[in-house]
Amino acid sequence: RMPVLKREQARDLGDPSGLPKLPVPPLQQTLDMYLKCMSHLIPEEQFKKTKAIVEKFGAPGGMGEFLQKKLVERSEHKANWVYDYWLEDMYLSNRLALPVNSSPVMVFPKQNFTSHSDTLRFAAHLISGVLEYKSLIDGRALPVDYARGQLAGTPLCMDQYNKVFTSYRLPGAKMDTLVAQKSTVMPEPEHIIVACKNQFFVLDVVINFRRLNEKDLYTQLERIRKMADIEEERLPPIGLLTSDDRTQWAEARSVLIKDSTNRDSLDMIERCLCLVCLDEPSGTELTDTNRALLMLHGGGMDKNGGNRWYDKPMQFVIGADGCCGVVCEHSPFEGIVLVQCSEYLLRYIPSKLVRAASMSELPAPRRLRWKCSPDIQALVKNLDMNVNKFTGYGKEFIKKQKMSPDAYIQVALQFTFYRCHGRLVPTYESASIRRFQEGRVDNIRSSTPEALAFVKAMDAEKMELLWTAIKAQTNYTILAITGMAIDNHLLGLREIAKELKLEKPELFSDTTYATSIHFILSTSQVPTTEEMFCCYGPVVPNGYGACYNPQTDHIIFCLSSFRDSAETSSDLFVKTLEGCLKEMQDLCLKFHPKIKIQ
Ligand code: COA
Repeated sequence: RMPVLKREQARDLGDPSGLPKLPVPPLQQTLDMYLKCMSHLIPEEQFKKTKAIVEKFGAPGGMGEFLQKKLVERSEHKANWVYDYWLEDMYLSNRLALPVNSSPVMVFPKQNFTSHSDTLRFAAHLISGVLEYKSLIDGRALPVDYARGQLAGTPLCMDQYNKVFTSYRLPGAKMDTLVAQKSTVMPEPEHIIVACKNQFFVLDVVINFRRLNEKDLYTQLERIRKMADIEEERLPPIGLLTSDDRTQWAEARSVLIKDSTNRDSLDMIERCLCLVCLDEPSGTELTDTNRALLMLHGGGMDKNGGNRWYDKPMQFVIGADGCCGVVCEHSPFEGIVLVQCSEYLLRYIPSKLVRAASMSELPAPRRLRWKCSPDIQALVKNLDMNVNKFTGYGKEFIKKQKMSPDAYIQVALQFTFYRCHGRLVPTYESASIRRFQEGRVDNIRSSTPEALAFVKAMDAEKMELLWTAIKAQTNYTILAITGMAIDNHLLGLREIAKELKLEKPELFSDTTYATSIHFILSTSQVPTTEEMFCCYGPVVPNGYGACYNPQTDHIIFCLSSFRDSAETSSDLFVKTLEGCLKEMQDLCLKFHPKIKIQ
């Protein structure tokens, strides 16, 4: 196991953040692990072929050794050897539309607005909180996050926070670019964009070096609302363009920028702090599942789908019917940062300092103008979503079994997949590598051979196999969070070969490799302390997205899949999962009968 450097030791090595660099795992360790991860997920004949390819790649003096050497060299002169490769592979080169396919959302507790002024007051308060949070980030005054759970206590990299209000994902013909604005401690003129009825308005929030207080923000929002109501001035729903496939959007944008009016409007959006989307009532019952859907795609073109600008990392959605949350462009940061920011905002109480006097004369907010009428095929309403609160038990019960709750839930997801589909598939679980400089995530491949043995087992040996599966999962987690997982490493070897213009190593053209990164099950733990939940869509057409939020006495599961896949069904998955969790509990209780359920 790779030792994690203490902050002081790392500082001695010359890094100002005090965090160690992400290590490059040993080549042989990764290759062995790759074979172990795939052996039970593919046919025997195919595995034999892959094994020979991997052995050739890893042979002394072979291609693997050469690439490994190059990767180690790269790691010596970069803060994080995988960051750029990972960002491109995971996000920027992905051509799929951002909503559903890439952008996670946070669903806030349902609000009870009885009038428009209630809604705008909530919006003004939230914006005020955003400004305060941004000044904490800019002043480097956010408390450093520390790892919890496995290997708790080490400080985590805070870089992701700097990107929350300063980034923009610019669409490109082949690849997008993550543009970063320089952040500064000085209160520069700053604005947010308010979307209302598919129209976009510039709301200046820092005027003459002073932040607007909530009352002024409210006044401005009211003016925006009135402007949006003027039917004759309505412009086409340009925001829909940002929910297209990335290449299509890049093409549309290159046409748009030929006109100076459009160029100016785009510039304002690209440089804003965030969006606040004042949504019309959705007209649907606001169950957890429906709120998740509304947040993920706005209900499509006929509802609030056009009241968005998906390239911007933070879009706060405030629905007149009380359906609220955040839609997040994922490339600059992880869900954990999104949770931290959301929880800050929900708890925010303005300090005296922020309650500055109202300004006597506020400049009118400005409507962004467009010269174009889009002819767009918007997002297909294909998402099959099921948000389910499993109330049988939560983290507490699992901890009493002396098991890792996360590992237990992962094994339960494998168990469920097996029950539904009769096999296991390559699975992704995001593991934070923020213990390292500029660390983002690596993958815990949860469909371990031990998980397969457990899900196939008969009653008598099942408890022992459950223990073994959980142990294997926990061990993999520890490998991943200490920078020793295999996905980033394999990606690094693949990309450095490309960079050196070498022929693609057979390891990466092998069908097993393609299978190994086709994540039919894409999972992630996003815990919250406030009553809210995170969710996202599947990453492949025949897959599931499974986001879970473990609490003391319950677990929220957000399952998503696509309706046009005959293989998947979110409802069936959730129903089966309930049964599997119950069976696992029965098993534990049979062997530890003294441990009572809360
Ligand atoms: N017996 C009793 N208690 C145990 C235990 C055991 N064997 N193993 C763990 N626990 C406890 C832990 O001490 C911890 O306690 P706490 O609630 O007081 O903090 C709790 O159970 C949770 O630990 P665990 O379930 O093992 O998982 P974790 O919190 O370490 O999470 C990951 C594991 C992989 C999810 C986490 O390391 C991670 O990377 N999270 C980030 C994921 C991410 O990036 N998500 C967003 C993607 S957009």
